[in-house]
Amino acid sequence: MINPLIEVMMPVTRSLRSKTGLSIIIGGLAVLLLTSWGLQSAEVDPNQLKFPQQFESWQATEEQVERDDILAQYPANIILWAGSSFAKEYHSPRGHQFAVADITHTLRTGVAVAEGDKGLSASCWTCKSPDAPRLMNEMGIQGFSGANFVDLGREIKSVVYCSDCHVDGSAELALPRPHAQNAMAKIKLPFDKQDHAMQGAQVCGQCHVSYYFQPENNNKVNIPWIFGSTADEIEKYYDTRRFYEWIHPISKTPILKARHPEFEHWSRSAHAKQGVTCITCHMPPATDEKGATYTDHKVAGALDNFDRTCASCHSSKAAITKKLDKTKAIIDAKSRNVESLLIKAHYEAKAAWDAGATWPQMNDAIMGIRHAQWRWDFATASHGMYAHNPKEGIELLDKSTEQVTYARQALARILGQLSVTKVEYPDYSTKEKAHAAIGFVEADAIKAKEAFIKEEVDKYWQPVARTGY
Ligand code: HEC
Ligand code: HEC
Ligand code: HEC
Ligand code: HEC
Repeated sequence: MINPLIEVMMPVTRSLRSKTGLSIIIGGLAVLLLTSWGLQSAEVDPNQLKFPQQFESWQATEEQVERDDILAQYPANIILWAGSSFAKEYHSPRGHQFAVADITHTLRTGVAVAEGDKGLSASCWTCKSPDAPRLMNEMGIQGFSGANFVDLGREIKSVVYCSDCHVDGSAELALPRPHAQNAMAKIKLPFDKQDHAMQGAQVCGQCHVSYYFQPENNNKVNIPWIFGSTADEIEKYYDTRRFYEWIHPISKTPILKARHPEFEHWSRSAHAKQGVTCITCHMPPATDEKGATYTDHKVAGALDNFDRTCASCHSSKAAITKKLDKTKAIIDAKSRNVESLLIKAHYEAKAAWDAGATWPQMNDAIMGIRHAQWRWDFATASHGMYAHNPKEGIELLDKSTEQVTYARQALARILGQLSVTKVEYPDYSTKEKAHAAIGFVEADAIKAKEAFIKEEVDKYWQPVARTGY
């Protein structure tokens, strides 16, 4: 009697385990022994009962397990991000179901800090989980952002979920993150006034957007769009406020860091002008067994589903793929070139400082490095730039090349004045060598992280923090 019921129960709870925790299964089984099937179905996520197709396709992003180690692919990034946690670990994105586990396990977020110490801000949870807006409601926005990342880990129960994009329990789109509501209003696209297509793009733009933590507001997430959302306008905002993320330890440059500005790039693209949005390409229509259409919630690569995503406007997959490959090759080559120039500039600045250069002498060169690295980052931190807005990507990298060249000319003059004839450049041909150049011992960081996972995450955090590990 019990066995068949458990078999019915298990597939239902399978979907819930990652979200609601093992307690549901244990609790569910206990209830099973006592009551009828009708009562258990009340335990199932109501969104699954109401919208099974959307729910199951949402869950299927757990199939997208693959990701690339960007620092191993492009070790130059380690030198350019020296002094920040980005130099420790950086992977390409994968399925939404991994959002919580990946940020938990990355070396970037480190380990718990001593009681009372200020660690990494809980703001890092903002774009991983619906528990972030929930906690903001409970603690206040700055109460949340002022808390430590690890201190709220036990509270995080779900990955990117229905209620991150919808009024919970309905198909109506919503923007639950206050920083996103404010940002869309800043660029005169308030969410409530947009049509359905733009609202769809904006729900993605809550997270797939460039942001920073505001130091004067307890590390609250802010999208720097007061002057607009281009690289120039955001830079103007940061320069006006004399903002920087960290001081580069090699060149002393006050660094700006871009974060995945997919929304910004897309919003200025030929596709956006035609009403083609993130949803058109990453959440195409699908058909269930009964022939009814629904939106595929397995948010994934756009080309994998060419027939459903692109074919209505582009007839040949081969032609489009060729075009994309060609653009990608151009952008990649420009990126690698800028990286090598920027690394030279950082070390030339170091040589100048070491020889006694002063700030009045160095100011222009350092600003040149800051602005060039900002544009390089704004282009390369955007995943899929070659598909989203290749024109802007190429323009950014060309401008970045110009700016770093200018900085290096200024540095050459200063080095001449200081009679420096030789500059030592680092070997960054592999991830290991680049880490050695900046003095980061990866093995130690991994050891500390593993201990933290064992003692804290495995014992006290929700199952969702372990998906895929
Ligand atoms: C990352 C954002 C996002 C998440 C997460 C998400 N949705 Fe959606 N959903 C959308 C968008 C965007 C549309 C509108 C698609 C369109 O009409 O262009 C949509 C459409 C829908 C619709 C309307 C019918 C249809 O299929 O088009 C339903 C119902 C729905 N979602 C339910 C859910 C449920 C249930 C979940 C959780 C399991 C969920 N959604 C999670 C973004 C999301
Ligand atoms: C609440 C924040 C959030 C929202 C909303 C969101 N994403 Fe994501 N998205 C993420 C995170 C975080 C990752 C990376 C997860 C990882 O690598 O562990 C990601 C990964 C992705 C990926 C990579 C998938 C893969 O398999 O490589 C794509 C594509 C993507 N998102 C598109 C979208 C689109 C389109 C929307 C809107 C419908 C959207 N996202 C809405 C946070 C979000
Ligand atoms: C014209 C179609 C199109 C539109 C519109 C579009 N994308 Fe993409 N996107 C792509 C393609 C093509 C790629 C390259 C990889 C792939 O999907 O095959 C990509 C890549 C990505 C990636 C990186 C995936 C990875 O694993 O590296 C993310 C994240 C992403 N897009 C999010 C978005 C968001 C958010 C929007 C809207 C603001 C958007 N995209 C709009 C086609 C599109
Ligand atoms: C609703 C129609 C529509 C859909 C769907 C669509 N596109 Fe486009 N695409 C366009 C239009 C319109 C242009 C712009 C033509 C122009 O302005 O030159 C364009 C341009 C492009 C270009 C640049 C081509 C060139 O000549 O330089 C690429 C690459 C591209 N699309 C890829 C994709 C991919 C990949 C997908 C699916 C993931 C996709 N598009 C989906 C309408 C669409």
